[in-house]
Amino acid sequence: MQHFLTSEHWQQPKLQQLIDFAKDLKKNPIQPLLRNKTIALLFFNPSLRTRTSFEIGAFQLGAKAVVLQPGKDAWPIEFELGSVMDGEAEEHVIEVAQVLSSYCDLIAIRAFPKFQDWNLDKQDKVINSFAQYSSVPVINMETITHPCQELAHIMALQEKLGDLKGKKYLLTWTYHPKPLNTAVANSSLLIASKFGMDLTLLCPTKDYILDQHYVEQAQTSCLNNQQKFQISHDIDSAYQDADIVYAKSWGPLPFYGNWQAEKAIRDQYKHFIVDKNKMDKTNSALFSHCLPLRRNVKATDEVMDSASCIATLEAENRLHVQKSLMHHLVNHNS
Ligand code: CP
Repeated sequence: MQHFLTSEHWQQPKLQQLIDFAKDLKKNPIQPLLRNKTIALLFFNPSLRTRTSFEIGAFQLGAKAVVLQPGKDAWPIEFELGSVMDGEAEEHVIEVAQVLSSYCDLIAIRAFPKFQDWNLDKQDKVINSFAQYSSVPVINMETITHPCQELAHIMALQEKLGDLKGKKYLLTWTYHPKPLNTAVANSSLLIASKFGMDLTLLCPTKDYILDQHYVEQAQTSCLNNQQKFQISHDIDSAYQDADIVYAKSWGPLPFYGNWQAEKAIRDQYKHFIVDKNKMDKTNSALFSHCLPLRRNVKATDEVMDSASCIATLEAENRLHVQKSLMHHLVNHNS
């Protein structure tokens, strides 16, 4: 059974095939490739883009999507094996995954980290449990990485720049009043390095460096692609001559579960906002963000409204890449 849990398990040519077919679907969006198929979309967290693009994408391919929010409109779920279930959870993932597999051709999951203990969160237990007990393919709609966003991001960059090999790619931390998930930043490291870009991770201090696993993946992929990978805490040099600026805010791992203490530190780094002065140092770089984005906190109006901003193109491409992915998993997964 082939799932889509993280891009790490997928080779670059296969991801490129998914993106290439998404480009075809973008030109010819209504095709009955999944006629009478069904997908369960389980949201443990809010969404605008992911929910809308999956529901509409399924509809455009002739499939039916069912949205479930465990703990809200569906029963709360237990994930611990052997648990005495005398708390909130009414059923176990073992039954949930088996029952949904009997109704559906695909299951997609959004389950953000709990933000208390990174050693627990990084096990990605919710989606891995669904993958373990499902008999149909499981898609990650954002857990500790966001692989659908990765595909949409690369597709948008290729539409604007063509071949990405050797492009100077900057992933910059940017300010947000709350500590956020590291998923999109982890994904940015994975996918930019896998697609052969020269990658810089810019963040305020060493505390904001992402999990070693993703740093090592990026180092390895960059090495394999004869590209540089560097970590910088210097805004001016990191932006210099960049072709792509991708912004994301995230909570630093050493402060996991201790966010009150981190807040005062983070508030010193509001100047990491993406603004015109910084973009002027680049090689007329494209700017993007996964959205949602707080204007004039993470990036200025001037940057968001500029011709170089491709954030909404990237969001649109979520629809196309996810259709390509659903088609691949249902029709080529035997
Ligand atoms: N980028 C993204 O996943 O958006 P939503 O959180 O709105 O789904």
